[in-house]
Amino acid sequence: MSQKLRGLVPYLKKEEIDFIVEQMAKDIERHYEGKELVVVCPLKGSVPFVADLIRKIHIPMIVDFVYITSPKGESCRIVRDLSHDIQDKHVLIVEEIIDAGRTLNFLKARVLASNPASLRIATLLDKPARRELPLQPDFVGRQVDDRFVVGYGMDSEELGRNYKDIYNFVQ
Ligand code: IMP
Ligand code: MG
Repeated sequence: MSQKLRGLVPYLKKEEIDFIVEQMAKDIERHYEGKELVVVCPLKGSVPFVADLIRKIHIPMIVDFVYITSPKGESCRIVRDLSHDIQDKHVLIVEEIIDAGRTLNFLKARVLASNPASLRIATLLDKPARRELPLQPDFVGRQVDDRFVVGYGMDSEELGRNYKDIYNFVQ
C-alpha cells in the first residue's frame, strides 16, 4: 500500500461487495424486464462497479460514459459528454457513491435535457447524512455514515482506485 494511504482499515471486503452487486443486479433486472437499457457510467470512480454490475444484468443494454468534474468550491463541468442519443431510452446512471449529491444533480439535469423515456439512479454506497441537494437514488447497495472511503474505484487524491476491497481512514 502506498505511503500516502496509510491508516486505512477494511470497511467492505470483496466478498461483501460481490453480494451487494449480485442483489442489486437482480433488482435492476426485475425492474427493467422486457426493456432495453442505457447504462451511464460517470468516470472515473464508477468503473469497477459498473464493470461488475453489468455482467450480472442479463437484459439488452448499451453502456455510455460521461466525465464530470466538480473541483472543491467550483461548479460541475462536463469534460466528456454522453456519446449516444438517449432520447426515449431507459437510462440508468450507475454511480459508486453519492455524497453531497452535486455531481448527480448536475448529471441528472444533463440526462433529462435529452428527454429519456425514464431515468433511475443506482449507487453502490450512499451517504444521505452528507446531502446538500435533494437526491434520492432508486437502487442503493449500502448506506454509509459520514466517513471517507477508498478502494473499488474510489480514490483519495487519485490513489486507491485499484484496491479490490473498500477501506476507510482512521485518524
Ligand atoms: P457529490 O457530488 O458530493 O455527491 O460527490 C460525488 C463524488 O465524490 C463521487 O462520485 C466520488 O467521486 C466522490 N466521493 C464522495 N465521497 C467519497 C468517498 O468517501 N471516497 C471517495 N470519493 C468520494
Ligand atoms: Mg463518482
